[in-house]
Amino acid sequence: MFSMLKEKFSKQPRTVAINGENHVVANPGETILQAGLRQNVRLPHNCRVGGCAECKCKLVSGKVKELTESAYVLSTEELDEGYILACQSVPKSNIEIQVDRLETNGPNHEVKTLRGEIVSHNRLTHDIVRIDIALPEPLAYASGQYAQLSLPGTIDQPRAYSFAAAESVAQESSSVSFFIREVPGGEMSTHMQNDSVIGSSVNVEGPHGDFWLREAEEPMLCVAGGSGLAPLKSLLEEAVANNTQRPVTFFFGARTQADLYCVADIEKLASAWPSDFHFIPVLSDEPRDSDWEGRRGFVTDAMEGNVSGNEKVYMCGPPPMIDATVTSLQALSINPTQIYFDKFLDQSHTPDAVA
Ligand SMILES: Cc1cc2nc3c(=O)[nH]c(=O)nc-3n(C[C@H](O)[C@H](O)[C@H](O)COP(=O)(O)OP(=O)(O)OC[C@H]3O[C@@H](n4cnc5c(N)ncnc54)[C@H](O)[C@@H]3O)c2cc1C
Ligand code: FES
Repeated sequence: MFSMLKEKFSKQPRTVAINGENHVVANPGETILQAGLRQNVRLPHNCRVGGCAECKCKLVSGKVKELTESAYVLSTEELDEGYILACQSVPKSNIEIQVDRLETNGPNHEVKTLRGEIVSHNRLTHDIVRIDIALPEPLAYASGQYAQLSLPGTIDQPRAYSFAAAESVAQESSSVSFFIREVPGGEMSTHMQNDSVIGSSVNVEGPHGDFWLREAEEPMLCVAGGSGLAPLKSLLEEAVANNTQRPVTFFFGARTQADLYCVADIEKLASAWPSDFHFIPVLSDEPRDSDWEGRRGFVTDAMEGNVSGNEKVYMCGPPPMIDATVTSLQALSINPTQIYFDKFLDQSHTPDAVA
């Protein structure tokens, strides 16, 4: 009898009060983050797998079930104060949470789930492909944001991928494009490398994310690594379409010349840019005796002399590159509030599941 009652209650939707105002409904099994994003509440977040703490919030009342061990990313003080991870907490009762950094300005496009079809597949480098998905209707998003992609019946667990073109470019044909880098052992990114995916149905849920171009007049400093080029290309396309007058310095970190891609697109952007556009590709593993005449080393090595300290910084790519660059930028007098980034975290950053 008790277990039947328990089962019945665990299948009930729960209300989540956010900062005493927004009330969202969490469906059974849904995390606070999933429920909030589905209902257009822009809860701060990044990895969605319990690895970055961007989604931390304070549980004011009620109970949650935690999916992974939050002690890996929250401090003892935060745990004592009742902080939880919204992406790893499923409400067990009606709850109230306090979110310190609830984003209330900026783009507020309707979150939709659209069933699209992969219509083209192009190899950009040995481990990055571009896929284009035709949608039944336009999807509005801000450059820099991402969508959750899943392949119904094949890979049902969605993964985050950033839009690779500005909306003004993509909407002309109700299609969206993404750059997907193969992660060794990764389910979705490996599956997407093969052009047999053309014709597959894809669920596209979005837009999500708080990486978007803020209005400002300061120069821009952009840093991309690997498939992190996608949201930055999109962001720069939007800026040029809006006739920005801001100078930009754009570092693109790659291993070798073979890992550089979309260079012609970047050069096109540079020539259309109304102000100064300084593109600096930096190669970390290019053979010593090759014909490469550009910068060698890491993006962080190339910063000195190219950063004034006044820039607004936009970065996307692998977590180690972002972490190292944030440290270097701070040493170059860039305030953390001037830095916006999306780390491309994946399941390997998931802490242990709670038993
Ligand atoms: C905001 C955001 C935007 C992103 N945008 C992009 C983008 O534009 N382009 C892009 O290429 N990527 C992007 N990513 C990364 C992307 O979402 C995927 O994480 C990535 O493609 C890997 O997915 P996968 O299914 O191939 O790998 P997964 O199957 O999720 O596995 C990833 C790795 O984790 C290991 N692993 C799997 N399960 C576990 C587990 N339980 N515990 C420990 N290790 C595990 C796997 O062996 C593999 O090495 C973004 C991520 C975020 C957070
Ligand atoms: S989004 Fe929750 S820990 Fe990263």
